[in-house]
Amino acid sequence: MSRAEPEQIDLGALASRSIVLCGFMGVGKTSIGRRLARRLRRSFFDLDALIVSRLGASVPDLFNSGREPLFRETEASILRDLVLASPPSVIALGGGAYDNAGSREFLREHAFVIHLDQSWQALYPALNRLRESRPLLTSRSNAEIEALYYQRRENYLLADLTVAIPRAGVTRASREVLHALMTYAAKITN
Ligand code: S3P
Repeated sequence: MSRAEPEQIDLGALASRSIVLCGFMGVGKTSIGRRLARRLRRSFFDLDALIVSRLGASVPDLFNSGREPLFRETEASILRDLVLASPPSVIALGGGAYDNAGSREFLREHAFVIHLDQSWQALYPALNRLRESRPLLTSRSNAEIEALYYQRRENYLLADLTVAIPRAGVTRASREVLHALMTYAAKITN
């Protein structure tokens, strides 16, 4: 017996907008974004992966060789092209992409941004794992990462919607993000 296809979700007034996920490193933007895209029957794009493919170098290579400015420039430019050129999709940003005021302004006009908001206490146990893969964190102490977390959070809070991300894993988090998005879409559509 075949399983019934989940119902097509109608995002009403948001149907024509790409859904963009922002939030601190390690909150699950890519995993949640992939699930969200599947459920919304949209394409999924991971901004970091597109930058790596465009520049032909890994994120650690780019940062460790002093090419963060090139990374940031490419990040902002791919993001714009993607939002303007593709049909409404789901896009996971890197943790620093929403620090760019120009990108924030652009996204406000052309997309719908969801902030995946995990508390510092929930993120804390993952710091050592994050340090291994995120060049920006490698040489920072826990206190310095905490300061960066709160500094970044001020901008993330400018997103169209902030969703609290539970510690309990990607499946539940994805469900909560979808629920919050549908509730918001229904409110502004009716
Ligand atoms: C960064 C976050 C990373 C990646 C790069 C810089 C940041 O993405 O873009 O290491 O400045 O916060 P993730 O948030 O996916 O780890």
